[in-house]
Amino acid sequence: MKVSVVSRSGRDIIKGGIELNDKATVSDLQEAIHRRTKKYYPSRQRLTLPLQPGSKGKAVVLDPKKTLRDYCDGTNDNLTVVFKDLGPQVSYSTLFFFEYLGPLVIYPIFYYFPVYRYLGYKEERTIHPVQTYAIYYWCFHYFKRIMETFFVHRFSHATSPVSNVFRNCFYYWSFGAYVAYYVNHPLYTPVSDLQMKIGFGLGLLCQVSNFYCHLLLRSLRSPDGKGGYQIPRGFLFNFVTCANYTTEIYQWLGFNIATQTVAGYVFLVVAASIMTNWALGKHRRLVKLFNGKDGKPKYPWRWAILPPFI
Ligand SMILES: NC(=O)c1ccc[n+]([C@@H]2O[C@H](COP(=O)([O-])OP(=O)(O)OC[C@H]3O[C@@H](n4cnc5c(N)ncnc54)[C@H](OP(=O)(O)O)[C@@H]3O)[C@@H](O)[C@H]2O)c1
Repeated sequence: MKVSVVSRSGRDIIKGGIELNDKATVSDLQEAIHRRTKKYYPSRQRLTLPLQPGSKGKAVVLDPKKTLRDYCDGTNDNLTVVFKDLGPQVSYSTLFFFEYLGPLVIYPIFYYFPVYRYLGYKEERTIHPVQTYAIYYWCFHYFKRIMETFFVHRFSHATSPVSNVFRNCFYYWSFGAYVAYYVNHPLYTPVSDLQMKIGFGLGLLCQVSNFYCHLLLRSLRSPDGKGGYQIPRGFLFNFVTCANYTTEIYQWLGFNIATQTVAGYVFLVVAASIMTNWALGKHRRLVKLFNGKDGKPKYPWRWAILPPFI
């Protein structure tokens, strides 16, 4: 079978096309493209079927596990695929590791080092117990996230564009510094002992619940990340599609009740809006996927993220 690999403008990406045997899969084609052009490793390639002229629909993305025959008309021995370079990629675990490493390292700098003296605050800094508990809480949170990245999550996508590393690191590292600056500030005023206990108590309960939600999500896929998307069930997932985001938001609320800074609440609002947006998308995807047709179950009624509102 001869496969022509072209760009969206119709230019040949591989001169003369590629000859593959009849049983070749899309993954074999990706390997063949990689052999011919070293920089295009498989996760960098997006292969689609050409759109008919004038068609406004979305192009069919080729599934690496399917055979090329699955995409051919009848006995046709020629196939044209459209190639898009997704740019340099990094593994999801690398992306998450660098995102979370920043806050884990930056926050303690404000607690342990004389940062404020360099910034012009001459008075002796008194460290309040809440500031000490806050650093333990913060570091535990990001350490947990790194451990979950390597040992719990089963990602469906192997890689992400390198540009996301810079974007996501900017988000996590700058918010880490922003919150750390105010919580550890020499002029920081602590809340009452009772408020601190309520805040950290709620936060820790939600961190443990968040971990349990991640274990439930993990059980939906096989160890190699296969299994697609399933209906999450059990614990808070019986009421909320993205119970992991719900517990994540409430654990930041707990941190903010205990530490009470404007910076912390700004982070909470931004994080909650990002997660709400994602949760609505994930909820819609599951409702569409589990529509009760073709032997599939119907998606049960659930809130997307924040009961009883959303
Ligand atoms: N503070 C913040 O700004 C913020 C923002 C985002 C996340 N977080 C935290 O980081 C955690 C991980 O974030 P995330 O966005 O990667 O979470 P996620 O997408 O909701 O889920 C984590 C893992 O479970 C898989 N999964 C989710 N729904 C599934 C389903 N229905 N069937 C099978 N597998 C499913 C995901 O697969 P895929 O690989 O296919 O997605 C992913 O590997 C969150 O739970 C939260 O605690 C914090």
